[in-house]
Amino acid sequence: CGIVGVVGNENATDILVNGLTKLEYRGYDSAGIYVNNQNNQDFLVKATGKIKELKNKITPEVKGSIGIGHTRWATHGIPTIENAHPHLSNDDRFYLVHNGVINNYQELRDDYLADVKFHSQTDTEVVVQLVDRFVVDEGLDTFTAFQKVLHLIDGSYAFLLVDRQNPETLYVAKRKSPLLLGLAQGFNVVTSDAMAMLDQTKDFVELNDGEVVILTQDDYQIFNENNQEVKRDSYHLSVDSEAASKGTYPHFMLKEIDEQPSVMRRISQEYFSSKGEVEVDENIVNSILDSDRIYIVAAGTSYHAGLVGQKIIEKLAGIPVEVHVASEFGYYPPILSRKPFFIFLSQSGETADSRQVLSEVNKKGHPSLTITNVDRSTLSREATYTMLLHAGPEISVASTKAYTAQIAVQAVLAKALSEKSNYESGKQFDLQTQLALVANGMQEIVDEKQLLDDMSRRILTDADNAFYIGRGIDYNVALEAALKLKEISYIHTEGFAAGELKHGTIALIEEGTPVIGFITDKLSAGHTRSNLQEVLSRGAEVFTISMKRVANENDGIILPDVDTLLTPLLSVIPAQLIAYYTSLNRGHDVDQPRNLAKSVTVE
Ligand code: G6P
Repeated sequence: CGIVGVVGNENATDILVNGLTKLEYRGYDSAGIYVNNQNNQDFLVKATGKIKELKNKITPEVKGSIGIGHTRWATHGIPTIENAHPHLSNDDRFYLVHNGVINNYQELRDDYLADVKFHSQTDTEVVVQLVDRFVVDEGLDTFTAFQKVLHLIDGSYAFLLVDRQNPETLYVAKRKSPLLLGLAQGFNVVTSDAMAMLDQTKDFVELNDGEVVILTQDDYQIFNENNQEVKRDSYHLSVDSEAASKGTYPHFMLKEIDEQPSVMRRISQEYFSSKGEVEVDENIVNSILDSDRIYIVAAGTSYHAGLVGQKIIEKLAGIPVEVHVASEFGYYPPILSRKPFFIFLSQSGETADSRQVLSEVNKKGHPSLTITNVDRSTLSREATYTMLLHAGPEISVASTKAYTAQIAVQAVLAKALSEKSNYESGKQFDLQTQLALVANGMQEIVDEKQLLDDMSRRILTDADNAFYIGRGIDYNVALEAALKLKEISYIHTEGFAAGELKHGTIALIEEGTPVIGFITDKLSAGHTRSNLQEVLSRGAEVFTISMKRVANENDGIILPDVDTLLTPLLSVIPAQLIAYYTSLNRGHDVDQPRNLAKSVTVE
């Protein structure tokens, strides 16, 4: 979900809608705004579906100088108008938007609001009705009532609350869900992602968990959980709002795929000195070398990048690495080594599953590093160390350049570790040269787009099921390739260890089932090729993604040469393009696939 608020600007409606459009990638099941012109007129507009549906419902008279907006990724309650935010109290006095999940909403409802009629199935409505109860029935002022409700809540939230009787003030609260204040010229804003407000300001104020804010046109007062006022200055964000626009591209995904060569070059510039020496904060290197095992924790595509990172770090730095899915690790952790070091991989730096693990890791006092694309994101602030991806904003829900950037930055880390520990295989690995080869190789592949569009039309556009297979590092890429294809084309796709297919899954191969094989390593090329023969003779349509040095097939794409360890940086590109064209050719929304959100801030 995404939320925005503005106070003290008479174009509140435009600012909210513009902000929500930028946040749409965080969820797009429904959206809504509430605006008040501080002159006894106010408007609530909600729509199911995307922001454009909301825009269609906003008539010219919907104007205000204070307002709140929300774009939803449904958790409690299906996407309907009633369940869309903002929610309001029954007497029409309070309006609220919420990101997060209230775990004890049913208890709160039973304990305090048994007599109240509810209009939605959401956990959020309980909060706004409860504020109203404490104000109207108990005579508390709005701020005190709001704080009282916050103390009763078990869960995660970013809240923006407006009291119609005091439309000069936005009440703001945050716990475990991202939220920032933005200080603009003559007015103030609040947002769950700086990106949404870059057209208004680049000066932001961080908020910490448990804080509550009174935000007015020209002031902000932050209070901590003990109701003590906290003073905090703003910081200036050096991001270009242009970087988050599509430019001449039809979709963000295609733009982001094409940006990968320049992301590789930027990573190389950021992490290598002019003399060609790798440059990583020495404290990170020392802390890892002082540990006995690395635990990589991540979700989705970032998890897949971690699987590749494991191979790179183990090979180049000789340190044992385990990779875990965050939502599993959180509640079912393995037995840890004596001196663990944690690496959190997260494009957004906000994924709740990973945050939950980090908060446990912090409680136990283990050192940690977050590798993320978003400076000052929550995972970055809460970990001991941060390394940035320098990939520029990634907007398309299907992650592409963040995946390759995560692999490259893990390689940088591995290289730095090996230099410090004198580990031979890493010391001899010329990563800077390899990254330059990768950048050029990526460029060659993205220039071959047409071939992949053709392939997609030929074997995938009408498919119901598809498989990606590979061995070793190719298997890791197969998992990511399958995720990419299924999430935006809705073709049921699985990534398999090539040798494992024959132990059951091969039963699913029918006439015309597409099977795409990754073959980048001489060591296992022969076996993977045999596995492709096995499916070919059962009717499959086979396509290969292979390197020059192992290639001998006709139907496939041959990748430029790089070191075996870095082949995922190249082999994933055709898979990203295959997913892109298949989604497009099947008529789906490439950048905003159904049911998904870019950044999932609930567990
Ligand atoms: C969501 C996105 C995925 C992403 C995952 C982890 O589910 O749809 O594309 O890989 O979150 O996100 P993160 O920001 O932590 O890398």
